[in-house]
Amino acid sequence: MTNWAPDLAGRSGPRYLAIADALAADVAAGRFHAGDRLPTHRDLAWRMGVTVGTVSRAYAEAERRGLIGGEVGRGTYVRAATPDDDNLLRRDADDPDNLIDLTFNFPPPAAEGAVLAKTLEDMAGDSALLQSCLSYRPCAGARAHRTAGAAWLALSGLEIAPERIVVTAGAQHGVLSALAALTRPGDRVACEALSYPGIKLIGRLLGLRLEGLPMDNEGVLPEAFDALCRGGEVKALYCTPTLQNPTTATMSTARRAAIAEVSRRHGVAMVEDDIMRLLTEGGPPPLATFAPELSYYVTSLSKTVAPGLRIGFVAGPEGAEDKLAAAVRTTCWMATPLAIEVGARWIADGTARRILATRRRETIARRARALAALQGHDVDCPEGSLHLWLHLPDPWRASALVAEAQARGVAIAPAETFAVGRRDTPHAVRVCFGAAPDMAALDRALGTLNELLDSEPPQSLAAVV
Ligand SMILES: Cc1ncc(COP(=O)(O)O)c(C=O)c1O
Repeated sequence: MTNWAPDLAGRSGPRYLAIADALAADVAAGRFHAGDRLPTHRDLAWRMGVTVGTVSRAYAEAERRGLIGGEVGRGTYVRAATPDDDNLLRRDADDPDNLIDLTFNFPPPAAEGAVLAKTLEDMAGDSALLQSCLSYRPCAGARAHRTAGAAWLALSGLEIAPERIVVTAGAQHGVLSALAALTRPGDRVACEALSYPGIKLIGRLLGLRLEGLPMDNEGVLPEAFDALCRGGEVKALYCTPTLQNPTTATMSTARRAAIAEVSRRHGVAMVEDDIMRLLTEGGPPPLATFAPELSYYVTSLSKTVAPGLRIGFVAGPEGAEDKLAAAVRTTCWMATPLAIEVGARWIADGTARRILATRRRETIARRARALAALQGHDVDCPEGSLHLWLHLPDPWRASALVAEAQARGVAIAPAETFAVGRRDTPHAVRVCFGAAPDMAALDRALGTLNELLDSEPPQSLAAVV
């Protein structure tokens, strides 16, 4: 691998960080084996047309992340090889090795195993801590873990006391806990007409009647929400106001105020799923700030730091903690203390923010690549989004494109996957570019989609009379 050269296309920002990110992506994609040697600083600098100092800074950054090491006589070598993980991405296609599965909303791969190793090493020296990780802890989370949650929520502009925060095993569990605390079987719950599919699973489990609300490019329409509430009791609204899954819509400040106003008028609780927010910078304040007395704010570290840690936080209105804790107790007794301890340390010592910054840069680079590849097509994909929402040109239908893409080794999700109810679904598909193992695979997948979009769908129904 001494001829390794990073692919920097689409990567903006300082060159040394772009090189370190590209190296991390290649490690995560399994391009290296542990021990592989990297080019010397001078060679790589010459090949890339950058200064030796830039390469040295890039390697130093990669070493800080635990990706590479260096020894006299051995040069610079790769430390972290990607484990052959049983990841979720589909292995059951006809040709699984060649399937690029872009159906899951994964954050782009990051190679942070060595950072985790260091944290676990630090923890290993503290036997009292280890003992506490092996024991039952308060169902709402240990004090230190709720404090970490408060610090994480502060990044989203929410100042919430730790005792109001309940730790969950990810955002899916957070939404489940909030809705379990708020509803009884048979209750009506409003949500986006095209919604994160996890809400449909929760709705079924809790026996809820989900009502999909019409949306525009800012998400749920306040008038539609109001009309639904006027037609009968609605217990809660579930929505993702920032970088909505799947449409990528973000509600403006005015839209948030209007939605909160409808909630107040009808006394409807709001479960705000804000899991994507930190992937983008700035943005309107959380919906929860417009009607805190009705708001259940849910987030997790899954998209921003590491989904495998299963760390989520829910902040309900004052006094809701006990019901939320009861929901956690019912579903899993408590989120796993060992994982939360890792996340809490990462939040406290800045590691979580560093990983977030890396994930953000990789997400932005992939988005740039995707937009360039699909130029000329109707794509919604604001900066920070992990996926894009592709409106299909006539006469393509989502199901036909999904089938044709799958036959050519690319898996994507049709709009129907996200539809709540049987209202007409748009001719659109979701493409999760974060899930591609690396940039080369992403290029191949997007090239395939592009070719399909520029061609005619098959006429398979023509033979039917
Ligand atoms: C909008 C939304 N909410 C929640 C989740 C689940 O997150 P977690 O892994 O933290 O349970 C996802 C995962 O894709 C999501 O897209």
